[in-house]
Amino acid sequence: VFEVKIASTGAVYKVPGDKTVTAFLEEQGVKIPTSCEQGMCGTCKIKVIEGEADHRDKRLSDQEKAEGFFLACVSRAKSDLLVLNL
Ligand code: FES
Repeated sequence: VFEVKIASTGAVYKVPGDKTVTAFLEEQGVKIPTSCEQGMCGTCKIKVIEGEADHRDKRLSDQEKAEGFFLACVSRAKSDLLVLNL
């Protein structure tokens, strides 16, 4: 379990271990565009402003990761909180 914070609204959500960030946020009314939902296409790319992502995709370059992006359909968090640029 980790938390995500939506930078634009300040809303904080606790993501359960059995749900992806995109699926869980959609249930909460926060829609993130997705396509493959397997960490392949890059549609769900979001910038993480604070916190450390746990990358589980096969798509992002090392540079994109270094710039703070993560793919929300598969990736999770190593830190307790991720602040998302949404
Ligand atoms: Fe394709 Fe996330 S929806 S990488």
